Amino acid sequence: MADLLHRPRRLRGTASIRSLVRENHVTPDDLLYPMFVTAEAASSEIGSMPGVFRYTIEDLTPAVNRVLASGVHAIMLFGIPADKDSVGSQGYASDGIIPSAISSLRKSFGKELTIVPDVCLCEYTDHGHCGIIENGDVANDPTLGLLQRAAVTYAQAGADMIAPSDMMDGRIGAIRSALDTSGFEQIPIMAYSAKYASAYYGPFREAADSAPQFGDRRTYQMDPPNRREALREIALDIDEGADIVMVKPGLAYLDILREARDNFDVPIAVYNVSGEYSMIKAAARNGWIDEQRVIAETLTAFKRAGADIILTYHAVEYAEAWQRAVRA
Ligand code: PBG
Ligand code: ZN
Repeated sequence: MADLLHRPRRLRGTASIRSLVRENHVTPDDLLYPMFVTAEAASSEIGSMPGVFRYTIEDLTPAVNRVLASGVHAIMLFGIPADKDSVGSQGYASDGIIPSAISSLRKSFGKELTIVPDVCLCEYTDHGHCGIIENGDVANDPTLGLLQRAAVTYAQAGADMIAPSDMMDGRIGAIRSALDTSGFEQIPIMAYSAKYASAYYGPFREAADSAPQFGDRRTYQMDPPNRREALREIALDIDEGADIVMVKPGLAYLDILREARDNFDVPIAVYNVSGEYSMIKAAARNGWIDEQRVIAETLTAFKRAGADIILTYHAVEYAEAWQRAVRA
């Protein structure tokens, strides 16, 4: 068989050659690390998400020190408030948990740290839905004003970017105009554009104590079987002024990510959500998989599918391993 002309194995013979022809890399610069900040008295580990904590504002600073030391320099923030009510007031109060955390972090870290608060009401409402309730469902347009207030409040506290995750229609345009009229025309919006009603958010709802108390999120988050609709949601958000669009969850929606990449030229983020994280942790704890390799393979899949930014709870452990490999 010496006349076999094409031998792809020629380029796989050594680690050095493989790295020369490697098409995709994930570096700490690609990662956005989601963190939880709580108004409770003490920090605590989230049972279904080993290695992920709800931090008090006091404990958040040392935790972010470790994040920056790993090479990751951007975080997303979720808040757990002291009190919840039917309209999610603590989500847009100027002395709420998120504005307080942002000002404290800004004081400690300056602009070295990029702070991206998630904007939604479900962590702040007593019913756990992402907006206010009228006639047994989330009322779209009345919710928009509250999201605008949250976005402007977070920008005033010093947020670098705003990330609305609520899936109300028209929210990107509403938030863009609220930011602009408040003097924040330079603050970008990262829109959770193609966000599906997914069972993979289960552990997050324990982390944020935000499970809906009745019904589910299917009247506002997308129906998982739909593909064309995701492209339409993304196009609408770009039209309304989104600077970055997101596909969420990640692994079960890599086809959507690829299509988004092929159809739009704005930066694209993907959210490697809580359930995806917890499955890897659970399998690793049982000794069933090589955890570090599975994490690297997973994050690389997002790059290969077209993501520019990867939101992942694995960010710090991946970045620390990446640094060790670079130094070795
Ligand atoms: C809030 C929000 C959720 C997530 C991000 N922002 C939960 C939800 O929509 O129910 C999920 C993140 C994760 O599972 O890691 N709307
Ligand atoms: Zn929500």
